Amino acid sequence: MTTPDLFSPQPTPAERAAELRATLHHHAHRYYTLDAPEIPDAEYDRLFQELQAIEAAMPELRTPDSPTQRVGGSVLDGFKPVRHAVPMLSINTETDTEATGARNFDARVRRALGLAEDDPPVEYVAELKFDGLAMNLRYEHGVLVQAATRGDGEVGEDVTQNMRTLRQIPLRLPAGAPPVLEVRGEVYMRRDDFEALNERQRERIAAGAKGEKTFVNPRNAAAGAVRQLDPAIAARRPLSFFAYGVGELTPAEQGGPSFDTHHALLMQLKAWGFPVADQTALARGADELVAFHQRIGASRDQLPYDIDGVVYKVNSLALQRRLGFVTREPRWAVAHKYPAQEQMTTVLAIDVQVGRTGKLTPVAKLAPVFVGGVTVTNATLHNEDEARRKDVRVGDTVVVRRAGDVIPEIVSVVPVSLNGGSDAPTTRGVPFTMPTHCPVCGSEAEREPGEVDHRCSGGLFCAAQRKQAMLHFAQRRAVEIEGLGDKLVEQLVDSGVVKTLPDLYRLGFTALAALDRMADKSAQNIVAALEKSKRTTLPRFLFGLGIRHVGEATAKDLARHFGQLDRIMDATEEQLLAVNAVGPVVAHSIRTFFDQPHNREVVEQLRACGLSWEESEPAEQVPQPLAGQTFVLTGTFPTLSRDQAKDLLEAAGAKVAGSVSKKTSYVVAGAEAGSKLDKAQALGVPVMDEAGMLALLNNT
Ligand code: IVH
Repeated sequence: MTTPDLFSPQPTPAERAAELRATLHHHAHRYYTLDAPEIPDAEYDRLFQELQAIEAAMPELRTPDSPTQRVGGSVLDGFKPVRHAVPMLSINTETDTEATGARNFDARVRRALGLAEDDPPVEYVAELKFDGLAMNLRYEHGVLVQAATRGDGEVGEDVTQNMRTLRQIPLRLPAGAPPVLEVRGEVYMRRDDFEALNERQRERIAAGAKGEKTFVNPRNAAAGAVRQLDPAIAARRPLSFFAYGVGELTPAEQGGPSFDTHHALLMQLKAWGFPVADQTALARGADELVAFHQRIGASRDQLPYDIDGVVYKVNSLALQRRLGFVTREPRWAVAHKYPAQEQMTTVLAIDVQVGRTGKLTPVAKLAPVFVGGVTVTNATLHNEDEARRKDVRVGDTVVVRRAGDVIPEIVSVVPVSLNGGSDAPTTRGVPFTMPTHCPVCGSEAEREPGEVDHRCSGGLFCAAQRKQAMLHFAQRRAVEIEGLGDKLVEQLVDSGVVKTLPDLYRLGFTALAALDRMADKSAQNIVAALEKSKRTTLPRFLFGLGIRHVGEATAKDLARHFGQLDRIMDATEEQLLAVNAVGPVVAHSIRTFFDQPHNREVVEQLRACGLSWEESEPAEQVPQPLAGQTFVLTGTFPTLSRDQAKDLLEAAGAKVAGSVSKKTSYVVAGAEAGSKLDKAQALGVPVMDEAGMLALLNNT
């Protein structure tokens, strides 16, 4: 982050090395000992590499206490130290995230083995590099006797009590296990478990619990849980485990097992009951390593946990022995990274955006930063409380995280004193407050008691809300007006041509073609799309109106129940409550919407413009045998499309959700079902196939 400054003198290499050592010591302590880092790993790595480079050029500057000379991690007071029977090594890291990372490793291995170019490819095991913390599990005569962290590689911490609470770690091995077996692997936290844990932590903090904190990422949450001194608290923290190797193992001569390959060893660990990642694969030669790196990289966001790269290991144990070690790193393994999921950047501004229902959302505008494989320029701060809790201010240096499919988030603010060199600002901007008025229309902003959000009270008077309302109405899942996107709506509303939804249908070709940058052909297309959208369905129309709390599913339920729009518009809250899945909040919101004369007017005008749909008699309380049950669909079904399956289930009263949770009643899995199936199995949610689902529907 340090940029050269023309006015302050450049530090000498000795001064810079000393500064880096102090900074790295500070951050290593925050990371390894306190589990509360202040800067992203990627930033730490950059500082570390800068120090390494200075020391390489000027070895006389290398001090024995330099962070480059140790593994990091020290024993926290309160845990018994454990000397590892076999040191826990670190692994050489290939930071080149491109294919060359894999090719360089293969070339190094071949050179070290003295292989010629026409010799056959080397066989590797390709694994995921889990982003958690290393654990050594020691079994004597098949019983778990000790679990220890890596610590500095030689001496770790005894965390046996805490690890015993992990259901994925066997306490006892099947008969035939060797007299001594140390299993090594990674303790980690799934992303959903992490989110849920932080949610609980926030509630505890809000309730006044002392000494509680939220965690910046799943890795730190896992580290915090493993090294939690109170095993009862540790037991409540949801941890998972993957095995990837062994430490001490009774030799074959003394009755231990013997393996020829790393892969065979992993398969044996699996047979003994240790989780081994399904993605683990054999790869022959550099090309297959590259293919693995790319394949996993493409599906990284879909994994339920964070990985920061992949690991390649020479498969043959005989070759591993021949390759040996350089300092503390084996020559037979390498970690090949992916773009980091956390980076540092600065906050340029905090804007407040107005949503369709008037919700005001503070959004941090960021100096562009490449994180998790994409360039990020915005991060939502959700609401005032959240912005205050994180205390993000304009000018701050912040840690941005983008992992999985979730939207980028600011995880923390980097303390001013640490965010760079002498040119970094030493004071901060003012704390964020929500504006008292809507930044778009100037109407008062309100926050109702018990709500976290501020809303613009301007309703459809507010141009921002009108634009969002139109885009909502025009979207594919509503009435679908093809070609009516952000830019066009912006133009139509800002120029004053369109004030209300029905105005859209009164736009003729002439008015459209007169707009800036609008070709005749495009204007014709929009006219045709508007015409086409007039023939719609009741659920689409209802959903398109954008009534608060009325999503697609509720719109379908309402349409099915009442059959006709007028009946819905005139229904009392009590009558609305009779609809499957409509509760008091939703009923009240629907009633309030249709009580507003201008909303009824919009509906009338849209009908007058020719919007139409089929109506039917109200459903004669069709039995809803699956009411109250939630299904999740995953994979490809042999006969039904996803939508058809969804319709069948919904017609029987079931809810169809997009993600699996403990509340899911059933997961229906087809071919190539992905992480949702894994999750169902992990949570013990019953799984059925299409035939099972059809049988269930028939029986009920
Ligand atoms: S093997 C001798 N395999 O990465 C090699 N490590 O510095 C020892 N890690 O903290 C490590 N996934 O906990 C290996 N599939 C994997 C791994 C893995 C994650 C971690 C490990 C250690 C670091 C390596």
